[in-house]
Amino acid sequence: MSLRISVIGTGYLGAVHAACMAELGHTVVGIDVDAKKIEALSQGRSPIYEPGLTDLLTRMTETGRLSWSTDISAAADADVHFVCVGTPQRAGEYAANTDYVFAAFTALAPHMKAGSIAVGKSTVPVGTVPRVLEAIRENVPDGVDARLVWNPEFLREGFAVKDTLTPDRFVYGVEGEFADADVEKLDEVYAKALAAGTPRLVTNYATAELVKVSANAFLATKISFINAMAEICEATGGDVLALADAIGHDERIGRKFLGAGVGFGGGCLPKDIRAFLARGEELGLPDSVDFLRGVDATNLRRRERVVTLVEGALGDVAGKPIAVLGAAFKPNSDDIRDSPALDVAERLVQLGADVRVHDPEALPVARANRPGPNYVDTVDEALDGAQIVLHLTEWKQYRELDPTDVASKVAGKVVIDGRNVLDGGRWADAGFTVHSLGRPVVEAR
Ligand code: UGA
Repeated sequence: MSLRISVIGTGYLGAVHAACMAELGHTVVGIDVDAKKIEALSQGRSPIYEPGLTDLLTRMTETGRLSWSTDISAAADADVHFVCVGTPQRAGEYAANTDYVFAAFTALAPHMKAGSIAVGKSTVPVGTVPRVLEAIRENVPDGVDARLVWNPEFLREGFAVKDTLTPDRFVYGVEGEFADADVEKLDEVYAKALAAGTPRLVTNYATAELVKVSANAFLATKISFINAMAEICEATGGDVLALADAIGHDERIGRKFLGAGVGFGGGCLPKDIRAFLARGEELGLPDSVDFLRGVDATNLRRRERVVTLVEGALGDVAGKPIAVLGAAFKPNSDDIRDSPALDVAERLVQLGADVRVHDPEALPVARANRPGPNYVDTVDEALDGAQIVLHLTEWKQYRELDPTDVASKVAGKVVIDGRNVLDGGRWADAGFTVHSLGRPVVEAR
């Protein structure tokens, strides 16, 4: 059955969610306080780089089922309201900032009609949802029940459309007298994926909040585990790639998310583990989450390691041209939040290096938000005369670079593969000394 849906917050999560809900046949209005985003979306343009999103927006705009507004009252007709606003790390603290979540639900509540439900998708610290419900209760019109489901989102940037349309599971956090009716309503929203067999878990609020943060904490831990092993490999002559392959064959461990390298970044993993540490303290359970301090520290040490390798290769880096390939925190995204690549680039700028950063999609957002490095529009401009090449975000076009061609452009034949995906043998054949993270150096030949 087709429903009327509002999606509040049209960032990385909400823009995709709104378009996907329209794709499922629902009539959707996406709402944001950012007029620029709404203007772009209204013209069928995506405010972010996300594969498949522009196509989907174009198609959905043509159906007439998808519209956009800066006015929260546009949500009034909807049966289901999804809140998809961000919960970034608070400046100078580990805790997540939930102000946008409370602001969104508080603004929405007066426009809720009888029988409609509010659904939170934002990642929030455990214990937040009952307070959100209270905020809704205080602001709904007389005679309208405050109904709230917590329905965390597990999409990965770069695969956001697919992950939203065909997720690997749904989690509904429900409580109170409307719990059964709320589950039914959300089942109508996701009817297509549910009919295809997608598992759906119904939990209480606290569990639903925890599912999201604990999933991200686990993924971050897995990456830092293999990066810690990379440090041991570096000291002992081991090869972390072979190590990951070998332990990954054990089905209990699995090979996924054992990609050693310059570590995790983005708007989710780093801030979620820090928010969990802060929440653990508040709950009087710092020991339960203390391991995440090590996870964070290991992750950040990998960025230092790249800088150390550069200094090892070049000595004093002041004034030396350095090519940095990649600015986004991962390929197929223009998201630069907590990007390891930009962090490394900025440290080298601080040391006086002439750092040229290229990225296929993230340059506009990097130029606007992270001045410092010299951002260049082509790979060749980054490579031209460079004394060292740093491969820090594994875009396909970098993996496919011809090392012989690169060799003809650079001044120094040293490459650091921060993502462990380049073919070291081919680069060595082209005259490069190849440093990877957690792997033996491959000497030029
Ligand atoms: C992450 C989770 O994977 C999603 O399930 C979750 O929904 C999302 O956060 C969120 O909280 O919204 P995302 O941040 O898009 O998704 O990116 P990931 O694919 O998880 O990658 C995170 C970082 O880890 C990237 O910087 C990536 O380069 C790095 N990574 C990933 C590694 O260093 N090694 C790996 O083996 C895998």
